[in-house]
Amino acid sequence: MDKLLIAPSTDPVKTVEDLIKYADEIKNDADLLHCDIMDGKFVENKTFSYDVLGILKEKTLLPLDVHLMIEKPTKLIKKFAQSGANIITVHYEAYKSKNRLIRDLKLIRKLGALSGLSIKPNTEIGEVVSIIGYCDFVLIMSVEPGKSGQKFIEKTYGKVSEINKIKIDYGIRLKIEVDGGINPEISHRLKMLGANVIVSGSYVFSSENRQVAISSLR
Ligand code: DX5
Ligand code: ZN
Repeated sequence: MDKLLIAPSTDPVKTVEDLIKYADEIKNDADLLHCDIMDGKFVENKTFSYDVLGILKEKTLLPLDVHLMIEKPTKLIKKFAQSGANIITVHYEAYKSKNRLIRDLKLIRKLGALSGLSIKPNTEIGEVVSIIGYCDFVLIMSVEPGKSGQKFIEKTYGKVSEINKIKIDYGIRLKIEVDGGINPEISHRLKMLGANVIVSGSYVFSSENRQVAISSLR
């Protein structure tokens, strides 16, 4: 089994200065920095955009895992790639057309980043099976996107098993990432079911010892 990657998220951190400090504090323990980008339209909250990502890129060597919770990802993909995103994940629900979505996933790879597709809790795996061939990551949301600190939705376990089975059956190299409400107990269970990347917002951020918190998620 591959090593489980841990990706602490930026959502609980409120200022750019604190983001830089947080990235520095977790740099030897975390595998990725999960950057939650919200535009106040696709989700209610608003965080930061590619300009701040560019600043972060200069301050940390952690790979940047960019989760775009934005209404119109197409126009901004290039900006995020140029600002140093290593993984760019778009939301299935942000697209009216599958062809447009596939074009964007191809564009992400062409720009030198890894491509990710995220689905909200109410989107079924069956809807995206025909698209995962264009993805390096699939990001299964285990809470409604938009804020940290929500409760993990139990039906996510079944979705992780389902996508893992498809991955094995088709022999594809896809990383399964799960985001929202995850604590160590949930993380261990997700790992057994085939998850490869665990995003953690409030659990790691609010722990007294973040190093211990990250290792307890593995
Ligand atoms: C939710 C974000 C998550 C969030 C996770 O909209 O996509 O990345 O930061 O935070 P927790 O782990 O607290 O649910
Ligand atoms: Zn996220």
